[in-house]
Amino acid sequence: MAQPASHGFAQITAAAAAVKERMGKRPDQPLAEVGVVLGSGLGHVGDTLLEHGGQALDYGAIPHFPTSSVEGHKGRLVYAQHDGTDVLCMQGRVHFYEGYAPSAVVFPTRVLLALGVKKLILTNAAGGLQDGMRPGDLMLITDHLNLTGSNPLVGENDPRLGPRFPDMSDTYAKTLQALALEVAQGHGLELKKGVYAGMLGPSYETPAEIHMVRTLGAGAVGMSTVFEAIAASHGGAEVLGISCITNLAAGISQEKLSHDEVKETAKQVEKSFAALVLDLFGRLAA
Ligand code: HPA
Repeated sequence: MAQPASHGFAQITAAAAAVKERMGKRPDQPLAEVGVVLGSGLGHVGDTLLEHGGQALDYGAIPHFPTSSVEGHKGRLVYAQHDGTDVLCMQGRVHFYEGYAPSAVVFPTRVLLALGVKKLILTNAAGGLQDGMRPGDLMLITDHLNLTGSNPLVGENDPRLGPRFPDMSDTYAKTLQALALEVAQGHGLELKKGVYAGMLGPSYETPAEIHMVRTLGAGAVGMSTVFEAIAASHGGAEVLGISCITNLAAGISQEKLSHDEVKETAKQVEKSFAALVLDLFGRLAA
């Protein structure tokens, strides 16, 4: 028999109820249909929402919410109305490599779904390995390779959260991909397309590992996103994934990799990235 869940249905419901109460909403009302998780250095979307009347709640103030130890991750949930669309925005996330159980890593995702989110934008900083990729490029995630060695659905399945064996064939919904390409084009932004390889981390990859994931068909590599995409799909939400290519992956670049470089590159693109994501909100809700 599996251990009693510390991030199970009861905790998800309690966290969602607390968020609604703090945002001044009735318990029976969904809060937002669109959600976004902002990766390392990509928090500008949240700042913009706050400047325009959004409400913020620190993760520490939400029952059972895990809090991140990673620099560049703020750790707050922003609720806002943007152009008439209700959105929930996570500024920062926790990762498997921080020592959190997979069920804790996806707890915030499940709370977003409990709050009404049906379309979830997952963003991240990633190392690029596709030919022609450069730091600062954006990549639309067409699919993922979960190479973390784990899965957030391991353990007893709670059917209130989703089915035992969820289908993953359209997790990164093709309709949302088409929409993102159209919105990006309107901004004069090129979106590359590729498969995201999710690694455990926290060490960056060796050149041999990058050679491996390239052979497997990956276009970018990172340490987040795949668990959240699995949990969102399990819960019946559609995912749109966008990677900010902050560096060329190990062995492709001759440079040493550093988190400072990752944050620096993300900072350079965060304004145009934010403009794209903000525009996507209204289009996703339509
Ligand atoms: N590898 C893994 N994760 C990353 C990278 C990388 O090169 N860049 C940003 N996150």
